Amino acid sequence: MRFQSALVMLSIARISASALSFARSSAPPGDALVQTVYQFPNNTWAENLAPRANGKVLVTLITKPEVWEIDPATHTAELVYEFPNALSACGIVEYAPNMFAVNVGNWSTTTFAGAVGSWGVWNLDLQAWDKCDGLRGGVDRRVTVSKIAEVPEAIFLNGLTSLPRTPTTLMAADSGAGKIYSLDVNSGLYHTAIADAALKSNASSPFELGVNGINVRPSEPGYIYPVNSLKRPRLVRIPIDPINGGQTRPVEVIVDDVPFETNLYGAADDFALDNSGYAWITSDPTNILWRASLSTGDIKVIAGSTNSPVVAGLTSCRFGSGEADVRAGRLYIVTNGGMADPAAAGVVGGRLISLDTSEL
Ligand SMILES: *[C@@H]1O[C@H](CO)[C@@H](O)[C@H](O)[C@H]1NC(C)=O
Ligand SMILES: *[C@@H]1O[C@H](CO)[C@@H](O)[C@H](O)[C@H]1NC(C)=O
Ligand SMILES: *[C@@H]1O[C@H](CO)[C@@H](O)[C@H](O)[C@H]1NC(C)=O
Repeated sequence: MRFQSALVMLSIARISASALSFARSSAPPGDALVQTVYQFPNNTWAENLAPRANGKVLVTLITKPEVWEIDPATHTAELVYEFPNALSACGIVEYAPNMFAVNVGNWSTTTFAGAVGSWGVWNLDLQAWDKCDGLRGGVDRRVTVSKIAEVPEAIFLNGLTSLPRTPTTLMAADSGAGKIYSLDVNSGLYHTAIADAALKSNASSPFELGVNGINVRPSEPGYIYPVNSLKRPRLVRIPIDPINGGQTRPVEVIVDDVPFETNLYGAADDFALDNSGYAWITSDPTNILWRASLSTGDIKVIAGSTNSPVVAGLTSCRFGSGEADVRAGRLYIVTNGGMADPAAAGVVGGRLISLDTSEL
């Protein structure tokens, strides 16, 4: 008996030693380039982000109804706004200079479900915020806040983007209902623009998480790109009317599936599109940043691995828009620190991470 378990121990040790050397020799190229910009306290799940032209980065939290501004130059964070009567802030987009829209409502990190009746889209106007400096000027920073619309039917308003041709038209992904609403910032009117089967959640999965991140490339205003967290195909593009966002033709599949999905939570949370024709995709809690070619569908792991803390719990990413960011091809990534699957890579506070993709 004892001899047998010693043998078992020996072979386990051998397997993990070889797994380790494999991991070392084939660590994804981004692992060495990842830098922590800021780390929130434990149990803080950062969900989305909007890098600003001034080099700062707005970050939303799903564990609190809050938007923070992080200054990568000083590694400090400042609370911009806490929304009332809600638990979570999710998708955020700058639809006009210094004007941001944010999805706000209730999503539970214990049941992984959204609450119908809690969701709305809010407006944050940061023009006055940027003019006064609370610390030096003795004047409180000011942010002008208003609710653009309530979306009473929404189950989980998650990804948010704006149409390049008509930026005051927002597209909001409902991960629970599996559809995308088109919403006008000025009138607050909204309607379901896309309800394709590709956006629905996977009926055999325990969580309602279909369409998650959504993006439109300014160079291709007639397509919206969604990812689906729990169901194939993972990454598609949908032909749309560039003015109102309505679907015009059938879905085109870019990536049907990925080989490294490790559990029921899925291989795609949110993603960023670059100017060279790639989607950079965060997969939480698979703990991997991967990249897909929009033209061939070829995929490549850029950073992380399931049991690695390097980018653990990565929920979203966006390219920086400050001058230095653009030069470096700097990708900002937010994380929940591993909260969604603590067993995989441990848990730390949610983070803002940078990855200079020009060095890959
Ligand atoms: C955060 O969580 C980690 C892992 O559980 C723990 O080691 C650390 O002490 C915690 N930090 C704080 C400030 O509670
Ligand atoms: C959302 O959460 C807030 C804060 O806990 C609560 O006051 C509100 O009733 C919730 N709304 C719904 C529809 O669950
Ligand atoms: C739905 O989820 C199940 C369980 O994870 C998986 O086996 C199946 O492939 C998924 N279906 C699609 C279409 O992705």
